Amino acid sequence: MAAGKGTRMKSKLPKVLHLLAGRALLQHVLDTAAELSARQVVVITGHGAEEVEASITSSRSAASAIETNFVRQEPQLGTGHAVQQAAPVLRDDGIVVVLSGDVPLTRSDTLRQLIAACAGNKLALLTIDFADPTGYGRIVRQGEVVRAIVEHKDASAAQRAITEVYSGIMALPARQLKLWLSRLDKQNVQGEYYLTDIVKFAVADGVPVVAYKISDPLQVAGINSPVQLAELERAYQMRTAVQLMEQGVRLADPARLDVRGVLQCAQDVSIDVNCVFEGQVSLGDGVTIGANCVIANAVIASGAVIHPFTHIEGGKPGSKDAVEVGANARVGPFARLRPGARLAAEVHIGNFVEVKNSTLAKGAKANHLAYLGDATVGERVNYGAGSITANYDGAFKHQTVIEADVHIGSNCVLIAPVTIGAGGTVGGGSTIGKDTLPGTLSVARGKQVSIANWKRPSK
Ligand code: UD1
Ligand code: MG
Repeated sequence: MAAGKGTRMKSKLPKVLHLLAGRALLQHVLDTAAELSARQVVVITGHGAEEVEASITSSRSAASAIETNFVRQEPQLGTGHAVQQAAPVLRDDGIVVVLSGDVPLTRSDTLRQLIAACAGNKLALLTIDFADPTGYGRIVRQGEVVRAIVEHKDASAAQRAITEVYSGIMALPARQLKLWLSRLDKQNVQGEYYLTDIVKFAVADGVPVVAYKISDPLQVAGINSPVQLAELERAYQMRTAVQLMEQGVRLADPARLDVRGVLQCAQDVSIDVNCVFEGQVSLGDGVTIGANCVIANAVIASGAVIHPFTHIEGGKPGSKDAVEVGANARVGPFARLRPGARLAAEVHIGNFVEVKNSTLAKGAKANHLAYLGDATVGERVNYGAGSITANYDGAFKHQTVIEADVHIGSNCVLIAPVTIGAGGTVGGGSTIGKDTLPGTLSVARGKQVSIANWKRPSK
């Protein structure tokens, strides 16, 4: 269900598209469904339907290519009405799991247990005890047996005292669901079609109703406001931090880590404060990440050190745009690695150096204030401070090749396409537009003139 308005977000963006840990709320729910190997997903949209559908369609990966159907619910007449819209596309022989697009952190193993409780022929409700159950549907039992869910607004004083509430998540046979949906009415305080009314139909039809109760409130927490979104974000991040520490990762402060994607860490990784990881990042044995780094889509090999304030912005994971940092390389402080930066072992990239779509072979160094774009840099090259590849002529990008053991002085401009031959040297301040032969010294700058007895102007 993703049709609700989300008024309290006070945003133009539909609520289910707000991001938690870098992913849309609804995307979290769909990814959980993918973990269950669901045969089919039906997304019920309403408010901002076009935007929601476009966003989900564009972010679907081939790997999780579950059959996805969108159905529209317009206007929104309640949760029962929402699921009624989905009924025509649900296959009769399946189990339906009803989820809310604004409840992002339900775990797939919890849902597996719920499906097991449904056992193909029961109505299984995910429930939880809340000290303050205000606003939620109450689980009304007779003895141990579940008899009904009564919405807060419809509940008697005695029912309001019940602390076991319905989470909004249920599993049940599709065939039964369809029969019960056709019997819903709006005879309640809110004048809505309540999905929760099907519990009393199940009881009347002699279909067993089981409650699977969990104790972890995060898994059923819904988001209605920016404050709740931020709270859930922090809770999610703390969980991720704890999981990493349990694997042996040393975090300077688990409260100052943000993982917006998947962070894989080998042994003896340490991460200083205020680092943000996005997309897919993998850190090899003994990698050290300094404070205040932002790292997206990168594979960083063992022993590499990323100094503080480094920004790594890899492109699509697994593509040639992903960033690679080789074993024992040193990057930063204040370095910028853009899509397609590929550093081999022992490469050094220093402060205020930008690398884009360039390969640096083992032991190459660019330590200060430099730009390498569309370049292939050989082993042990030393690339001087302030030097740049002029890779763009205003229309096209061109390649620069710097062969092994070249020394580029400071403040050089290498006008691509150009090749600097192996072992060559380029004198500081040179503008190089023609290929150079291996082993040569190339100097391309105005000759120095020193004028004796020259008088400075004076008043
Ligand atoms: C619902 C349950 C309540 C439960 C609570 C848990 C009903 C009648 N009540 O109440 O028992 O304790 O969730 O959070 O089901 N939605 C639509 N179309 C609609 C109405 C809602 O798609 O017409 C979507 C909302 O966007 C949301 C979800 O369904 O994602 C739940 O709706 P919400 O209004 O939050 O239900 P509650 O009244 O909180
Ligand atoms: Mg709600």
